[in-house]
Amino acid sequence: MSLLTSYLGLTLKSPLVASASPLAGKLDNLRRLEDAGAAAIVLPSLFQEQIEADATARQGHVDVYSDSSPEALSYFPAEAAGPYGIGPEHYLDLIRRGSEAVSVPLIASLNGSTRAGWIEYARAIDQAGAAAIELNLYHVPADLEESGRAVEDRYVDIVSAVCADVAVPVSVKMTPFLSSIGHFATVLADHGAAGLVLFNRTLQPDIDLIHLRLTDSLDLSEASELRLPLLWTALLAGRTKASLALSTGVSSSNDVVKGLLAGADVVMTTSALLRHGVGYLATLTDGLKSWMEAREIGSVDTMRGMLSWQSSKDRSVYTRANYLRILERYATEAIPRFEPVPGQGGVRVNVLEGLPS
Ligand SMILES: Cc1cc2nc3c(=O)[nH]c(=O)nc-3n(C[C@H](O)[C@H](O)[C@H](O)COP(=O)(O)O)c2cc1C
Repeated sequence: MSLLTSYLGLTLKSPLVASASPLAGKLDNLRRLEDAGAAAIVLPSLFQEQIEADATARQGHVDVYSDSSPEALSYFPAEAAGPYGIGPEHYLDLIRRGSEAVSVPLIASLNGSTRAGWIEYARAIDQAGAAAIELNLYHVPADLEESGRAVEDRYVDIVSAVCADVAVPVSVKMTPFLSSIGHFATVLADHGAAGLVLFNRTLQPDIDLIHLRLTDSLDLSEASELRLPLLWTALLAGRTKASLALSTGVSSSNDVVKGLLAGADVVMTTSALLRHGVGYLATLTDGLKSWMEAREIGSVDTMRGMLSWQSSKDRSVYTRANYLRILERYATEAIPRFEPVPGQGGVRVNVLEGLPS
């Protein structure tokens, strides 16, 4: 049986990739991830704000970096230690030493959102020995004057600049919050992106009703979050020249199988490893192998994209027709029954019965 796959032009021993998280910020953990079966490892991001704070500290003045928000800069002390304790120099060192410590490809992650000095670090990352660079252009378009086109143009501008500057392949960790994901995926690939990570997971604040304020805790992903990347992996597979990494919500080996059937070249995971430990990668790999064995599928290449949009006979399952079908089926099968709530003046609630468990 062959689990071999190709991602960003790199040949990987399996489609299991550890996505960016602090887990990969330490040499010991890199070794543990490799031992557990990670075929490639994405390092935690080096953030634009870290790079700019570091440059500010070195130059002793701030006006050069007026592009960055002061709030963001304040998260990173001038000594350049980021939330993971990794400043730009340490980051390059992690790449150098990590590349010697493990034999699987290390993918560095650059994280920023405006065209500024931070993108020059891409070349330093390339020279430090990263096998590839993943760009995370995390941005919340809160400016009501900024059009979608302007946001996308800025992304393309950054991607083009980085791709022109480095020899290693560059992937883009995409946001799903675009009006036309497929078109933008094509644009990114046309401007040099060798791979697309579907998707970046944005972190939304919640509201604390006791203290009446916004809160910003980090919750690990849930299995149900797989559906969105699964849909877009299936829609894009075989229709873009970029490699595809499915990311977000991968919780079990069945999710890995689904990602490959949809057409992913690799499947990435973080929350599952933080929940169950690094060794869970072996569980995911074993589960994939068992599934393939049970169905007598000899290689990942054979199963990849079996259920993609391109391979599907019934493409309506991916579109608006499916939306109507699902709603109709729900209405028929769920048999809604409406009853007055005792003592509440005839207010009617839906007490759906007969739901499939
Ligand atoms: C604790 C933590 C730290 C993360 N750090 C980064 C990061 O530095 N850069 C990045 O691009 N994504 C980062 N992520 C996002 C993950 O790489 C991944 O995209 C996200 O968790 C969704 O995948 P999952 O459902 O497998 O967890 C982080 C996620 C977690 C939970």
